[in-house]
Amino acid sequence: MQPYLVPIGVLFPCMADIKVGTTVHRFDLSPILAIFRLVPEQGHHFPPYRAGQYVALRRDNCRLTKRVVQSDGRIIYLPDLDEHGNQRRGPVTHSYSIASAPYETEREGWLEFYIILEMYADGKPGRLTESLFQMDSEDDNRVTYFTKIAGDFTLERRAAPFDNVVFVGTGTGLAPFASMIKQLHHEGKDGPFGRKRYTLFHGNRGSAELGYHQQFLDIERSGILDFVYVPTVSRPSPEEYRDHTLGKGRANNLLRAVFGLPLKEEENVLRAHELGEDSEPAEALARRAVRPVLPAHLSRTQLLERMTSENTVILTCGNPRSMEDILHVAAVRGIKCEREVW
Ligand SMILES: Cc1cc2nc3c(=O)[nH]c(=O)nc-3n(C[C@H](O)[C@H](O)[C@H](O)COP(=O)(O)OP(=O)(O)OC[C@H]3O[C@@H](n4cnc5c(N)ncnc54)[C@H](O)[C@@H]3O)c2cc1C
Ligand SMILES: NC(=O)c1ccc[n+]([C@@H]2O[C@H](COP(=O)([O-])OP(=O)(O)OC[C@H]3O[C@@H](n4cnc5c(N)ncnc54)[C@H](OP(=O)(O)O)[C@@H]3O)[C@@H](O)[C@H]2O)c1
Repeated sequence: MQPYLVPIGVLFPCMADIKVGTTVHRFDLSPILAIFRLVPEQGHHFPPYRAGQYVALRRDNCRLTKRVVQSDGRIIYLPDLDEHGNQRRGPVTHSYSIASAPYETEREGWLEFYIILEMYADGKPGRLTESLFQMDSEDDNRVTYFTKIAGDFTLERRAAPFDNVVFVGTGTGLAPFASMIKQLHHEGKDGPFGRKRYTLFHGNRGSAELGYHQQFLDIERSGILDFVYVPTVSRPSPEEYRDHTLGKGRANNLLRAVFGLPLKEEENVLRAHELGEDSEPAEALARRAVRPVLPAHLSRTQLLERMTSENTVILTCGNPRSMEDILHVAAVRGIKCEREVW
């Protein structure tokens, strides 16, 4: 008797949404930060997407953890061990903002990601990112992806009516902005651009971690877009201190400096005084904070002109506390602010 064959996608509709891609390029900015390029499963294309969207990636050999509630109610995640004391392995899926521009994917086929190796408080690596960073180009380069591309952190949805768009990305929170700026630059090549002005603050610990740095400098220099790039390093080495093309300090503090506001750490000291709390811990942090310095070729006045309250939107992505502060700063200045939720 002929077996009755049901297409697998009918039995398991969600399985039809999963494919296995291959990593074809990896550029290490540091031992814990890399740009990965993923090509789709053979015979397939990635679906179309808008700059600012994200996609879910999975690896199946991740070291698994289990949730443990401690006696004080705190939740921690510990290695999930089998009966022989070996850490169980299995699939872990997470979302990643797409750092490639849609035109790059159309032309080249790949999606690009700017990913940091997650570290738990005890120094152990995150489940999925450990597996991604351990991939080797020859034998173990497969990454499962979901074919649904999601998210509404796009220029169309978040920035359409504004003349001034200010991006503030910390760490890998740059990824959606990298996609947007590359796409805008590409589209700008095809005809006269509108009167929108784009300003990007990207803060990371050191200059090696400033992903897409040269590309942003090139885009700025090309003059095709009205684009100003403000790179800043929060842990400058002596050499980076001497490099006047780089900003210094955390991105949120640089933005505060442009607006003439105190550093976040200084504001915390004032708040402790107001509340009558012990201000010493906040003072110690304020003393250690790296003072914000703009790249030498940029002035406060020039940047302020690009951030007038009535027609500016700030888009921010990355460190949650940095985003909180940027929302606060924007509210103080009466500027609309949108953040990527993650
Ligand atoms: C929309 C979106 C876009 C993103 N884009 C980027 C990007 O462009 N680049 C980037 O580097 N990252 C991005 N991320 C973060 C990314 O999705 C992952 O959270 C990150 O890479 C860590 O994954 P991991 O498996 O290595 O860490 P995990 O092992 O998942 O650890 C992360 C935290 O989860 C907790 N945890 C550990 N084990 C468990 C468990 N068993 N169950 C539940 N929680 C647990 C721990 O508190 C730990 O600190 C994005 C996230 C979102 C939501
Ligand atoms: N799109 C997303 O959803 C997304 C994007 C990126 C990252 N993530 C997640 O974020 C985590 C960290 O990744 P990362 O290295 O990219 O970023 P990060 O560790 O947050 O560091 C990047 C920059 O943020 C600054 N920063 C740290 N704490 C801050 C604070 N409290 N206030 C203001 N600035 C602060 C750092 O300054 P210092 O040098 O002074 O610490 C550094 O300049 C990872 O777990 C990753 O999974 C998610």
